Amino acid sequence: MNGSVYGPDRNWTVGTAPGIFPFFGHGIALFRHPLAFLKSLPARGDLVEIRLGPQRAWMVCHPDLVQRMLRDTRTFDKGGPQYERLRALMGDGVVTCPHARHRRQRRMLQPPFRPAGVAGHTDLMAEEAASACRDWRAGQRVDVSAAMLGFTTRVVSRVLLSDSLDAATAAEVRHCLAAIVRGLFVRTVVPVDALFRLPTPANHRYRHAVGRVHTIIDAVIAERRRGPGRDDLLGTLLEATRGDGTEPAVTEREVHDQLVSLLLTGSESPSMCLASAFSLLARHPEAERRLHAEVDAVLAGGRRPGPEDLPRLVYTRCVVNETLRHSPPGWLFTRVTTTDTEFAGRRLPRGTTVLYSPYLLHHDEASFPDADRFRPERWLSEDAAGPQGAMIPFSAGGRKCIGDAFSMVETTVALATVASRWRLRHLPGRVPRERPGATLGPRSLVMACEPRPGVPAGGSRAGSLASP
Ligand code: HEM
Repeated sequence: MNGSVYGPDRNWTVGTAPGIFPFFGHGIALFRHPLAFLKSLPARGDLVEIRLGPQRAWMVCHPDLVQRMLRDTRTFDKGGPQYERLRALMGDGVVTCPHARHRRQRRMLQPPFRPAGVAGHTDLMAEEAASACRDWRAGQRVDVSAAMLGFTTRVVSRVLLSDSLDAATAAEVRHCLAAIVRGLFVRTVVPVDALFRLPTPANHRYRHAVGRVHTIIDAVIAERRRGPGRDDLLGTLLEATRGDGTEPAVTEREVHDQLVSLLLTGSESPSMCLASAFSLLARHPEAERRLHAEVDAVLAGGRRPGPEDLPRLVYTRCVVNETLRHSPPGWLFTRVTTTDTEFAGRRLPRGTTVLYSPYLLHHDEASFPDADRFRPERWLSEDAAGPQGAMIPFSAGGRKCIGDAFSMVETTVALATVASRWRLRHLPGRVPRERPGATLGPRSLVMACEPRPGVPAGGSRAGSLASP
C-alpha cells in the first residue's frame, strides 16, 4: 500500500473496537493487552470507536488520516485524558500547552535543538555514553534501563541546564519518572478521577513523585538565580522573564513548566529507545553482528564517535530507526477536538477525544511488510521503509517532537559507543515482555555484559575511553 493512493475523497471506513467491559470500556483491553488490542483495530476501520472508561473516543488507524489530524493542530489540539493528566505535571509548557500558546514557546525553545546546535553536542553525548558503561565488568549483570536513563538524564541536564542537577538529584528525578510514567498510563486508559483519589500506595507514589519533581525544579531555578548567569536554555528562559518590550515577558511559572517538560520528555523516551535497542539486538544476532562490524570499522581502536563519524554510522542509524519503528517509546497519544468537525466522513462534536498510536501504524502490515520482525536492513533502502506518513516515532505536523534530531544523534552515538565495547546478553529466561506504560520499552532490563573481542576481560579498555 502506498499512502499517496488515498486522496481526500476516499470512502473511509468507520468501525467499533471489540472487547468492551461495563464501566472500564476498553480500558481493560488497553491495560492488559495494549499492543495486541491496537494491532486488532485497523481491521475494524480507518477510524474506530473505543471507550476509555465511560468516555467515548476515536482511534485513528489510517496513516493519511493520522497525518491530516496531526497537521490540523487548531482543530485537534492537545487534550483528552492523557494531556489532562500531563498538565498537572507540565502545566502549560510546550508539550502540553494549547495551540493558541504554542508557537511562541516553540520558537523560544528551538535553538539548542536545531541541527547546528545538535551537532555541537555530539562529543558531550559520546563522553556521557562512555562514562555510562565505563565501570561495567565482564560477566556483570547490568541494569541497562537504569544505565540508559542515567545517560539521557545527564545529557539533558548538561545541555539544557549546564549540569545543574547533582548526582543524587538526578537519581531522584529518574526514580520519580518511573512512578510518573506508570501512573500516567493507567490514568489515561481509565480516566475516572475518583479511583485516583483513593489512598492506595500506587496513588501516593504518583502524587509524591509529581510533588518532588516540582520541588527539584524550583530549587534548580532558585540556585541559578543566586549564581552566575549561563548561556543555556535555563539562561534563555530567565532572560525572557525580563521581557524585551516586543512580547509579553515569560512568567516564573512558565520557566518552571518548560524545565519540567523538557527534563522529563528529554530523559524518558531516548532511554527507552536505547534499552529496547539492546534488548532487540540480543535477540537478533545477525543484526548485532552487522552493527558490531560497522562500529569496529568506523570507530577503529575503540575511539569515541565525533560529529564527523555520524554519516558513516549507517547501519547503527538503521538499528535506531528500526527500534523506533518496532518499539516506539511514544506509542499512544490523545487529542481533543476544539470545534465540531467532519473527519473520515463522520461528524465529531467539539470536545471529542481522538487517539493516535505510532505503534499501531508501525505494525500495520499494509505499511511495513513483516511488521513484527525487527529488521534494520529495511532502512537501507528508502522504498522498503514503508509509505511516507506511516513512520511517526516523533509524530508529525506542528507538534512534532522538538528533540527529534537531538535524539537521533544521541541514541546513535550511545549505541555505537556501548556496542564498540560491550555485547549485552539477556539472562536465561529473562527476556522482557513488551508491557507499555505511558511509554513503551523495557523499564527494568537486566542484561549480562560480555566484552567485545579486543576488550581486556574484567574491565573497559583503557584506550576506548579517551577522546577521539
Ligand atoms: C527517542 C526519543 C524521543 C521520542 C521517540 C520522542 C517522541 C515524541 C513524540 C511522539 C511527540 C509528540 C507527542 C504527541 O503527539 O502528543 C513528542 C513531543 C515532544 N518531545 Fe519528544 N521524543 C523523543 C525525545 C525527545 C527529547 C530528547 C526532547 C527534549 C530534550 C523531547 C521533547 C519533546 C517536546 C518538547 C515535545 C512537544 C513538542 C511540541 O508540542 O511542540 N523529546 N516527542
